[in-house]
Amino acid sequence: MRKIYMDYAATTPVDKEVIDEMIPYFNEIYGNASSIHSFGRDAFNAIEHAREQVANIINAGSDEVIFTSGGTESDNLAIKGVAYLNKKKRNTKGNHIITSAIEHPAVLETCKYLEKQGFNVVYLPVDEYGLINPDDLIEAISKDTFLITIMFANNEIGTIEPIEEIGNIAREHDVLFHTDAVQAVGKVPIDVNKFNIDLLSISSHKIYGPKGVGALYIREDVKLQPIVHGGGHEKGLRSSTYNTPGIVGLGKACELGKKRMKKDVIHLKNLRDTLIKNVLEIEESYLNGHPEKRLVNNAHFRFTAIEGESLNLMLDDKGIAASTGSACSSKKLQASHVLLAIGLDPVEAHGSLRLTLGRWNTPKDITYVADVLPEIVENLRKMSPLWNR
Ligand SMILES: Cc1ncc(COP(=O)(O)O)c(C=O)c1O
Repeated sequence: MRKIYMDYAATTPVDKEVIDEMIPYFNEIYGNASSIHSFGRDAFNAIEHAREQVANIINAGSDEVIFTSGGTESDNLAIKGVAYLNKKKRNTKGNHIITSAIEHPAVLETCKYLEKQGFNVVYLPVDEYGLINPDDLIEAISKDTFLITIMFANNEIGTIEPIEEIGNIAREHDVLFHTDAVQAVGKVPIDVNKFNIDLLSISSHKIYGPKGVGALYIREDVKLQPIVHGGGHEKGLRSSTYNTPGIVGLGKACELGKKRMKKDVIHLKNLRDTLIKNVLEIEESYLNGHPEKRLVNNAHFRFTAIEGESLNLMLDDKGIAASTGSACSSKKLQASHVLLAIGLDPVEAHGSLRLTLGRWNTPKDITYVADVLPEIVENLRKMSPLWNR
């Protein structure tokens, strides 16, 4: 059977060029990067090269990038790191954080955890497309606000937030700005200086790199408290022996991501637009998220009287890997917090399908999905008590 992967927002395959770059670091250049002998120095040099590659894709300085175990850890370190230092120093700022209602759980759960410790968090609402309103942000800022954390692009519906505007507002009000850019890196040009971003999270496995490695950009004058203590790696901000192959892989993935961005964007946009056009020909089907301000690889639909889980299983039977929402929450049968936040009711939210494309999808993949999907939707509707036609 034909197999088609359309779940690139959940994870990506590792690029062959990335694998080739990583391999020597498993059993040839295997030294501990903190050791002073030549084995260690070789690993150290590779890590520093990777740091530059990562910094390059977001226009940062290489001394402003630290390595972590992934997007989740980067988000945790950025938010808790700033929050705990702020509390310890009893800054003139208070205990107030602003985020949005549609963040990834790596941000939302971290904020909820901090709330239990006495921090005060505002969750900004979004409009029907998933966009925050900059005026709401300005209104929410108080003299106590020390951090704004708003994602670059949403992992479920693909909406891209007005990051430059948010960065300007944060800077004008002297508030730090963290953005989870896990889904945006490699698909949207990012310039931390132009956008006034102070902290930015990256994950390797979303950009054709290996799993279990990520990075956090920390503007040079921003101070954090570590959340992992130990040997003092990464300027004391993130202890643990360096994952050299993983870091080398992330570095290469960023280099390729930057080099291929223009080509990738054209390719993905063409495929995505054809997919959206074809799928919307199905009766009572709708696009979730913003029609233009969305990631080039994201197509997120809802179908009246359809149960997303069943739709996914039937697509899987046809060899198509899709998702109902984010991979992290798709095993929980709760309606997605993102879809509820854009105003869908739980039944509508459950009728959703996320198709996310990648570098290796082809026009034939799109044709195949466009061929099989209408019949699956029709069959499911025949069985649905909600479809009274
Ligand atoms: C927006 C966003 N943030 C954070 C994460 C977590 O990244 P990681 O899997 O590297 O921990 C994900 C992964 O789905 C994501 O999509």
